[in-house]
Amino acid sequence: MVSQGVPIVGDRKFVFVGGKGGVGKTVIAAALALDASQHGRKVLLASLNPVHSLSSLFGQDFSGGTIMPVKGAPNLDAVEVEIEDLVSQYKSRMTARLREFFKWAEVPINPEPFIEVATTNPAFHESAMFDRVMDIVLEMGGKYDLVVFDTAAVANAVRLIGLSKLYGLWLARMIQSRREAMEYRLRLSFRKEKVMEEIKRDPVIADLISLNEKFTKTREVITNPQLTGFYFVTTPESLPISVVVRFIRMVESFNIPVGGVFVNNVIDVSDASTDPSGYLAAKVEEQRGYLRMIEERLGRLVIGYVRSFPSEVRGIEALKDVIRDLRSYTPPIPA
Ligand SMILES: Nc1ncnc2c1ncn2[C@@H]1O[C@H](COP(=O)(O)OP(=O)(O)OP(=O)(O)O)[C@@H](O)[C@H]1O
Ligand SMILES: [Mg+2]
Repeated sequence: MVSQGVPIVGDRKFVFVGGKGGVGKTVIAAALALDASQHGRKVLLASLNPVHSLSSLFGQDFSGGTIMPVKGAPNLDAVEVEIEDLVSQYKSRMTARLREFFKWAEVPINPEPFIEVATTNPAFHESAMFDRVMDIVLEMGGKYDLVVFDTAAVANAVRLIGLSKLYGLWLARMIQSRREAMEYRLRLSFRKEKVMEEIKRDPVIADLISLNEKFTKTREVITNPQLTGFYFVTTPESLPISVVVRFIRMVESFNIPVGGVFVNNVIDVSDASTDPSGYLAAKVEEQRGYLRMIEERLGRLVIGYVRSFPSEVRGIEALKDVIRDLRSYTPPIPA
């Protein structure tokens, strides 16, 4: 159980919330953010979801992609990143980058089909989102005590960070060969000093270097357990549990710190007794088996449970109920 005097996420600065679709990630992310803000931390809740879930959760319009204070929650700001804008900006940047590469490598083929494939595959959306995550990590770290990311792209973020060492090596190699190629060409027409100057001015090299720096800095932050935690949400159901188990295995294999697991939508026995149809009692019985499974497979990582409320979670007061459960509710788990 989490002690009362500190935020549920402790003193971490960056928190990511992942899990299967619909399990309550947005609700939990918002509750963790609100909880830390109530402990005097200055908090930013950043949503990178295709649908505008924060607006409906808080009943406040967050569209437009700018950071805004959450009404009724001092110390808490929120932003809903516009995914479509993000993807189209990223697409034009990557297209320019790829065209430049093809031109420079003097590959005698039409690059357009490659560019099309590279910028329309599903991972591209997630890469665009991760690019924004990196910007937020590097820009907002100084302005907020805590940034909570509610993003569907957690798996991809993990993969990219995990692979970023490799990616960094690849970038370094690209920078090196671009330098060599430029030097070779320029030496034919310029003096040595002029060659170095031209290389320094090269936009492709500058672009690669800054991308590499961004990756390196973000990796340092995201793999530091004092600064960052990846949290996962499950419900007492088979598929969401498998998803979390798989995520955690992946996260750990990349040395990315796991903050813990939250179990949402637990049906309480006392609620079941008020339901004459017997449906809830049957559900409770079914959930018992899954709670047991969670205990076996994730026990050491579970930090909180939230009951299934009679209606959707909307507004600050409802989030406070979620926080209360996270801090104090534990369902009976069969041995
Ligand atoms: N403990 C709960 N009790 C009652 N309703 C809940 C609870 N947790 C979440 N909900 C409701 O379930 C729905 C899904 O929750 P939420 O949007 O947080 O899930 P999500 O994992 O973020 O979904 P997505 O994968 O689509 O982003 C929402 O309508 C939310 O209000
Ligand atoms: Mg969501």
